[in-house]
Amino acid sequence: MSVVIFKRFRMERSLRSLSATPELPPGYFWVPWDSSVASHHAEVHYRAFCRELDAQLFPSFSDYFGCRALIENISSSPYFLPQATWLIACATECCASVQCSSFVPGQGTIQNVGVVPEHRGKGLGRALVLQALHSFRQLGLERAVLEVTAENTPALELYRSLGFRTVRTLYRTPSY
Ligand SMILES: CC(C)(COP(=O)(O)OP(=O)(O)OC[C@H]1O[C@@H](n2cnc3c(N)ncnc32)[C@H](O)[C@@H]1OP(=O)(O)O)[C@@H](O)C(=O)NCCC(=O)NCCS
Repeated sequence: MSVVIFKRFRMERSLRSLSATPELPPGYFWVPWDSSVASHHAEVHYRAFCRELDAQLFPSFSDYFGCRALIENISSSPYFLPQATWLIACATECCASVQCSSFVPGQGTIQNVGVVPEHRGKGLGRALVLQALHSFRQLGLERAVLEVTAENTPALELYRSLGFRTVRTLYRTPSY
């Protein structure tokens, strides 16, 4: 039996200097976290990740109910940061989402940045990450961290362009 191993990068950046959160494109708006939007986070997460590389590493990403359970787990954790967890919506649907937590004092973790395919390439991914970084700073945090699959070029380029640098290389097997 062969085991697939995924190379991942842990990336970090300081929160000392941040560029302004970009304006969202016309027609898009921010939706802050409250428990009533949990199912929207799950739906966006499912649509953003179900056909992507990360769904091979995290099989629950390719199942809507798996995504609901994931959002439930994240948001019920004592480490969850509701103030740094955001949706972007437009008139017809929710389009992008990020969830954040703080597992280590002074440090914010960006957990899942996802933009549904129909809304990519418009700056929503960049806006989500910057919004999370600004939220971290408002909460008094000093550093932001995340993990990304090495072959996920769009995400890696996004994070690099926002000042994240690789601090560690990790090797992970699919988690069921
Ligand atoms: C990664 C993702 C969030 C980017 O969202 P997006 O809204 O399309 O990104 P943006 O339009 O804000 O682009 C911001 C930057 O990301 C990078 N980028 C985005 N798409 C890219 C692509 N196809 N190839 C290379 N770089 C890309 C570029 O640096 C881009 O900056 P530029 O427009 O100045 O070139 C989106 O592709 C996605 O949801 N992917 C699936 C889920 C996923 O893998 N999330 C990351 C988990 S770690």
